[in-house]
Amino acid sequence: MTIDSVIDAWDNADPAAIHPTRGISEDAYRISGDNQAALLSTILPEGCKVVDFGCGDGRVAIPLASLGYEVTGADGSQAMLDRLTEAAPDMPTVLTDGTNLADQLGRKTDAVISLAVLIHHTYESGERIIEGLRAAVRVNGLLVLDWPTADEPAEGSGWIGVTTWSRDQQDEVCQRIGLKRLDQPGSPWPVFRAVKAG
Ligand SMILES: C[S@@+](CC[C@H](N)C(=O)[O-])C[C@H]1O[C@@H](n2cnc3c(N)ncnc32)[C@H](O)[C@@H]1O
Repeated sequence: MTIDSVIDAWDNADPAAIHPTRGISEDAYRISGDNQAALLSTILPEGCKVVDFGCGDGRVAIPLASLGYEVTGADGSQAMLDRLTEAAPDMPTVLTDGTNLADQLGRKTDAVISLAVLIHHTYESGERIIEGLRAAVRVNGLLVLDWPTADEPAEGSGWIGVTTWSRDQQDEVCQRIGLKRLDQPGSPWPVFRAVKAG
């Protein structure tokens, strides 16, 4: 699938598809976001500027802002951003497919987080998106990416499939675009520092 077709599918998706907890209750959905925001606050420097890329309707972006971060919600789906704005009218939003995040943002950010987004893309698309995210982060800034590895990596199929990567594939991308993997015990997601490429 292309980047556009994945975004288009999400734009038309039932908001319940965003996270499995929504099938339980809105409370469970909200609590899952609160918990992940609290976990992110142990990784991200206090009060920094964070872009939540593929923010959906703000499950994590909204509680992260409540913890004192300057959060911008970024998504390729205007429907998702509209729902976010309904819940958090003061939060800035950016419509982007990731490849043009730096231009859409108009400045560098301290950090990008991205949960349950890259998994839905092919290797080729995922690499282009991560390159776009890296370009939006200042040198020494952080990227917390739900970018899973597997012993037997495979590309997912369809807009809700899950793509996994080999560590070697990831290391090659990181080397090319300037990401240094950090040792972050306790984080369920890999954490990277933006460094000079090469
Ligand atoms: C599974 S939801 C996750 C939402 C949120 N990150 C969370 O954890 O609650 C995936 C979101 O990523 C967005 N998305 C997927 N691919 C994207 C892309 N290439 N650029 C921007 N948004 C994208 C979808 O529109 C959707 O809002």
